[in-house]
Amino acid sequence: MKFSSVFAAAAVTGVASADTTTSSEDLRTFSTIEPTASEIALQAENATTLQWSSDVKGKGFSRFFTIWLENTDYDKAADDPNMVELAKQGITLTNYWGVTHPSEPNYLASAGGDYFGLDSDNFSTMPKNVSSIADLLDSKGISWATYQEDMPYSGFQGFNYSNQKTFADDYVRKHHPLVLFDSVTGNSTRLGLLKNFTEFDNDLKAEKLPQYAFITPNMTNDGHDTSVKVAAQWSKDFITPLLSNDYFMNDTLVLLTFDENESYGIQNKVFSILLGGAIPDELKGTSDDTYYDHYSEISSVEAAFGLNHLGRNDVSANVFEVVANATNITNIKVDTTYKLNNESYQGYLNDANQVLLAPNVSATNLAGSSILPAISSVWASEYNAQVSESILTSTTTTVSGNITDVAPETTSSSSASASSSGSASGSASGSSTHSASSNSTGSGSSSSKAGAAVVSTSLVSAFLLLAANLLL
Ligand SMILES: *[C@@H]1O[C@H](CO)[C@@H](O)[C@H](O)[C@H]1NC(C)=O
Ligand SMILES: *[C@@H]1O[C@H](CO)[C@@H](O)[C@H](O)[C@H]1NC(C)=O
Ligand SMILES: *[C@@H]1O[C@H](CO)[C@@H](O)[C@H](O)[C@H]1NC(C)=O
Ligand SMILES: *[C@@H]1O[C@H](CO)[C@@H](O)[C@H](O)[C@H]1NC(C)=O
Ligand SMILES: *[C@@H]1O[C@H](CO)[C@@H](O)[C@H](O)[C@H]1NC(C)=O
Ligand SMILES: *[C@@H]1O[C@H](CO)[C@@H](O)[C@H](O)[C@H]1NC(C)=O
Ligand SMILES: *[C@@H]1O[C@H](CO)[C@@H](O)[C@H](O)[C@H]1NC(C)=O
Ligand SMILES: *[C@@H]1O[C@H](CO)[C@@H](O)[C@H](O)[C@H]1NC(C)=O
Ligand SMILES: *[C@@H]1O[C@H](CO)[C@@H](O)[C@H](O)[C@H]1NC(C)=O
Ligand SMILES: *[C@@H]1O[C@H](CO)[C@@H](O)[C@H](O)[C@H]1NC(C)=O
Ligand SMILES: *[C@@H]1O[C@H](CO)[C@@H](O)[C@H](O)[C@H]1NC(C)=O
Ligand SMILES: *[C@@H]1O[C@H](CO)[C@@H](O)[C@H](O)[C@H]1NC(C)=O
Repeated sequence: MKFSSVFAAAAVTGVASADTTTSSEDLRTFSTIEPTASEIALQAENATTLQWSSDVKGKGFSRFFTIWLENTDYDKAADDPNMVELAKQGITLTNYWGVTHPSEPNYLASAGGDYFGLDSDNFSTMPKNVSSIADLLDSKGISWATYQEDMPYSGFQGFNYSNQKTFADDYVRKHHPLVLFDSVTGNSTRLGLLKNFTEFDNDLKAEKLPQYAFITPNMTNDGHDTSVKVAAQWSKDFITPLLSNDYFMNDTLVLLTFDENESYGIQNKVFSILLGGAIPDELKGTSDDTYYDHYSEISSVEAAFGLNHLGRNDVSANVFEVVANATNITNIKVDTTYKLNNESYQGYLNDANQVLLAPNVSATNLAGSSILPAISSVWASEYNAQVSESILTSTTTTVSGNITDVAPETTSSSSASASSSGSASGSASGSSTHSASSNSTGSGSSSSKAGAAVVSTSLVSAFLLLAANLLL
């Protein structure tokens, strides 16, 4: 799809695109939590750690653990000898994408199905009416946890915790998805499930691991402050003993991935490997070129366990083939020719004038499931209000055309508002040209009072783009 026709679609629906720049007074601000080391030591004494395991049978896998490394271009990671070794034991995903830059919005997206416009690593929180994968898992009693290396105690909500001898970066909040949600931190049970690597070792030894976990190594081991060489060595050392642990690997799928690539000017594709007992032996050492992105982590868990969805970009995100095959899901073919995923759209977290997008309460995910009823009951009327306003906004930024043709200062919002997919519509993984909307189909769109753009499903977009082209 041509860039110009995307703009035309926006023009046809008569909506303005977002401002090209965000002035500082428009930034949404949050108070930070930055306790001192001595305050942390005190709090640690009373911290509660919970061990939660369960045994719900899934289709394709019964346990999903993801391990995130940092900031590496696809080719660079693919060349690392330790990555090559690991790849021989699993399936390499050759078309797996980060959703924007920098780090934090990618982590946020993996748990919330959207990054809500976040374009920084700043302290931010999602209000308590925004749900996450934890709510989906809870709905069927599927145990979960996060394991964050060097987090000083379970449930820690501070901005960072450095190595107290060298003061090198260690644990950082921006790499911890579930702590970004008030719906998680406002619940003391959930705080007890945000744990560190000491607790991972304990849970493994006790055979009390959860069925879903998000694992973040410290800033040395994940490559952030070091290199992919360190990250790959750490990964091999961490994963190798697990691969021969029958308890851990039984029907388990492990996704080793990166939050984002390093070169912002190129496609935000990241090297990723699926490992574990859920991978059939004959597929070890093979690759899969299906389009996936961080939203696939949520959609795959939904499909495997037959869960409801979040009404966000998880709805249309492709599911990993082991699950797709086990559930007869047909993944979407995504044209990535003009896809970059390298800039955040203008939204709630980077602009105080933008409303919080409603999830699409009427969507059905690739597995045929509907939204979690508890989300619908909070958001249905706001969703309908946003749909009827039909104001264009967007989620994953996919700049059309050659990025070098567009000045960096101005690509952001013009391209974001014109060529992206909708949060309320949940159509992130689709083509690079979702935009514009109409209420007539009742499909997802959402609004922002600041007057940016509307979102909708690919079908609606495609229809409007067609209309736009006919009118021209
Ligand atoms: C820890 O809990 C004890 C007992 O409830 C209480 O007296 C103490 O003040 C708490 N410490 C902190 C740092 O909250
Ligand atoms: C991030 O936070 C810093 C300091 O609080 C602030 O100056 C900056 O404008 C923020 N950036 C964004 C994009 O919110
Ligand atoms: C990990 O968390 C536990 C539980 O709060 C705490 O006792 C322990 O000291 C932490 N470990 C590290 C290495 O910070
Ligand atoms: C957080 O990071 C800052 C800057 O690196 C550092 O000075 C501070 O000691 C860290 N806080 C803790 C609790 O480690
Ligand atoms: C990160 O963890 C490793 C052990 O896994 C440790 O050797 C290293 O010192 C830690 N990094 C920092 C900055 O403390
Ligand atoms: C608190 O979290 C637990 C575990 O995730 C969940 O079962 C419970 O329903 C939550 N409570 C509320 C009030 O959300
Ligand atoms: C794997 O889990 C299944 C049930 O999900 C159980 O029947 C089987 O014994 C387990 N195998 C191992 C090696 O733990
Ligand atoms: C899924 O099924 C297809 C078609 O039978 C097969 O080629 C592929 O290897 C399967 N993938 C997995 C991960 O089982
Ligand atoms: C998938 O489709 C095949 C053939 O149509 C059928 O035999 C199988 O039961 C289906 N599996 C599921 C999980 O629906
Ligand atoms: C969700 O919470 C935000 C922040 O508190 C609020 O502005 C918004 O109106 C709420 N929306 C719904 C549907 O509850
Ligand atoms: C993008 O534009 C640059 C500079 O005009 C050009 O060198 C490059 O070949 C173009 N790339 C593609 C894929 O069109
Ligand atoms: C928009 O669609 C929703 C959902 O189908 C409906 O409830 C609402 O009344 C419609 N609004 C308008 C203005 O047509």
